[in-house]
Amino acid sequence: MASSSTPRQHQSQLENAFDQIAPYLESNSKEPWAIFINHRGSDVKHTLATAIYHKLHRMGLHVFLDVEALLPGDVMPAEIQRAINSATLHIAVFSPNYAQSPWCLAEITFMLKTGAKIIPIFYYVEPSELRSIDLGEGIYANAFSEHGNKGKYSPEKLDEWKRASYNISFNSGYQVNKNEDEARILKNIVNCAIKVMKMVSLPVAEHPQGLDDLVEGFKSVASKEKVQITGILGMGGSGKTTLAKELFNWNFSSFDRCSFVFDVRDAASRYALAKKQKKLLRDLGVDHLPFDHVDEGKAVLGNRLGSHQVLIVLDDIDHVDQLNTLLPNKDNLGPQSMVIVTTRELGVLISWGLSCIYKMPGLNRSNAEKLFCWHAFLQPSPPAGFISLVEKFLKAGNGLPLSLKVFGGQLYGSNSKANWKSQLKKLSRILPTDIKQRLQVSYHALDEEEKEMFLDVACFLIRENKSRAIAV
Ligand SMILES: Nc1ncnc2c1ncn2[C@@H]1O[C@H](COP(=O)(O)OP(=O)(O)OP(=O)(O)O)[C@@H](O)[C@H]1O
Ligand SMILES: [Mg+2]
Repeated sequence: MASSSTPRQHQSQLENAFDQIAPYLESNSKEPWAIFINHRGSDVKHTLATAIYHKLHRMGLHVFLDVEALLPGDVMPAEIQRAINSATLHIAVFSPNYAQSPWCLAEITFMLKTGAKIIPIFYYVEPSELRSIDLGEGIYANAFSEHGNKGKYSPEKLDEWKRASYNISFNSGYQVNKNEDEARILKNIVNCAIKVMKMVSLPVAEHPQGLDDLVEGFKSVASKEKVQITGILGMGGSGKTTLAKELFNWNFSSFDRCSFVFDVRDAASRYALAKKQKKLLRDLGVDHLPFDHVDEGKAVLGNRLGSHQVLIVLDDIDHVDQLNTLLPNKDNLGPQSMVIVTTRELGVLISWGLSCIYKMPGLNRSNAEKLFCWHAFLQPSPPAGFISLVEKFLKAGNGLPLSLKVFGGQLYGSNSKANWKSQLKKLSRILPTDIKQRLQVSYHALDEEEKEMFLDVACFLIRENKSRAIAV
């Protein structure tokens, strides 16, 4: 008991406690902590708390998994205070024996004072337990009576802890009980942490619109096989890569290993494709890759990917050979693996045997307006006087994110309606019925020298001979 310990014993208890958490502390403890996990060790240390810790830690987050130790008097160790103060997100796991721990109660009280977001997890405990302490009923009330009987803590301190417990019980959180799947809760917590930490491992879009709907649409057609392989199909600029990034960000924490292979179309040579194979293998944890030829890469890929649950995005595929080269053994990936392929070419997906295909739908009117306006005015709706002009640009943009972004960006900073009208006239002269014509707008906006540069780059990108692209 703390009350019967000498200061030296306290010191050694604290040292022991820190020895226990040492594996969870990163070497550079001067870094601010991203997440602080408050929990009762004897209840959840070896189950939920550690599972949350490992999930978040694997995502590269600096997570402090506290270990309770006896409090020397009421003083909280400086390292714990610093961790709580610096964390952007707190997670508190309220388990049956939580309230018996003065350490846990002191921490939650301090956590509330910081004003940082706290996610409560009610682990085999109803939130009402935390609200009915004063009524003297329930396990939390009993724990408080015991604290009172021991007389170690002042009534003011006990009141402060009670208030903290009461207040936190109203935060929206998660309930774990025998009917709830812990894995699902773990996933929700991780997703919530990703949101709170603004942890978008891949930057998705400057002003993202309608992504939740797109994700839902994708899920509705996504493969339900043991290895889920789904294509995203759409014209250039329709947002395929953007959606794939969003899906990747939302899902990566659920997989053992993940890889997003960008711009496969650009890997025109076998050497370049071998580099993509290496990137894929490195991301998936396979090192020592002394190969330069795609066929050797295929052999390694074929043998080494079966044992993990992986998430792989192959972006901007324009030939089925690229798929065969990067995933030669697609059906032998680890169970519950997920593969997403983005392409403009339906034929590529069909020749690879894919039937689960999500076709990019285009932005609806409201999201299109927001996207255009964010780029044109840095706000989601048109200012007075521009409503009908905006309407005309939306019509021309036809829900295509790239066009809306380009049109809006070209008008950014211009509040001259004459300029807007002239841009619109320019557009209407070449008013497109397909994406090619729409993309020409950006081309026509360039001056003569820029146009030449654009054509050089364009020729280069469509695999025109390099010397011809430079010479012409
Ligand atoms: N839902 C969206 N919200 C906001 N911006 C978006 C959205 N979808 C796409 N964009 C923007 O539109 C542009 C084109 O999107 P993206 O690159 O994803 O298209 P794509 O279909 O992959 O095109 P490509 O076939 O040329 O690879 C990007 O700049 C992207 O940021
Ligand atoms: Mg793309």
